[in-house]
Amino acid sequence: MRLDKLLSSLGEGTRSEVRALIRAGRVRVRGETARDAGMQVDEARDSVTLDGRELCYKSVRHVMLNKPGGVLTAARDARQRTVMDLLPPLYAAMGAMPAGRLDKDTEGLLVITSDGQLAHRIISPKHDVGKVYLARVDGPLGEEDVRAFEEGLHISDADGEFDARSAGLTILRASQTESEARVRVTEGKYHQVKRMFAARGVQVTYLKRLSIGALRLDPALAPGQWREMTQEEAALLEQDAPPEEDEQEDKHA
Ligand code: URA
Repeated sequence: MRLDKLLSSLGEGTRSEVRALIRAGRVRVRGETARDAGMQVDEARDSVTLDGRELCYKSVRHVMLNKPGGVLTAARDARQRTVMDLLPPLYAAMGAMPAGRLDKDTEGLLVITSDGQLAHRIISPKHDVGKVYLARVDGPLGEEDVRAFEEGLHISDADGEFDARSAGLTILRASQTESEARVRVTEGKYHQVKRMFAARGVQVTYLKRLSIGALRLDPALAPGQWREMTQEEAALLEQDAPPEEDEQEDKHA
């Protein structure tokens, strides 16, 4: 790959900006100061530094984002801000995509990955990957709701009809005017969690995804913040959801 293309795909600037960095002698390749923006670099093997900082090129990257409300889960949109706009352009350039979809007003764990197979495993209902959400609703919740979620709700509303799979509902607090619960689902139909609560007569007023499989949202990430995931963390996506009793406290909700 050309050196200027590599640097700009790593998010270090536009092609003309990275050429200026190279002209200024700030980039070294294999230990030598680079002078030619068009020189060929082996991105998998060559050491490339900018101001002494090692720029490691990886062809597969996974990002954990704490999606904020008000942002679309989409690769791009002509008018509205998308989750890809929250990341450096490197990720879009290498074909990374959100693995699954959170509604515009939903917050929490979203994985963005350049690994299409991993994205498929997270999304496909065949793989049964559990997703845990924190939901606040505008009315009471009780043991009958827990049973109804467990038995599997029949959803029939303006968006269509389906039988939801059995889901785990843990009530965290309940009152006549507002309740909070954790819900674990293994499928991701359109507005699934909101529609399940609506079928029980309450509306979701706040929704946040806490985990996918055994991977939890890093509590250090405030809404809008992200970090790269390790391969070990990516592997957690294929394991079972964490036991409920050790669910972390949610400081950002
Ligand atoms: N269920 C919903 O209703 N919305 C989401 O964003 C995710 C799950």
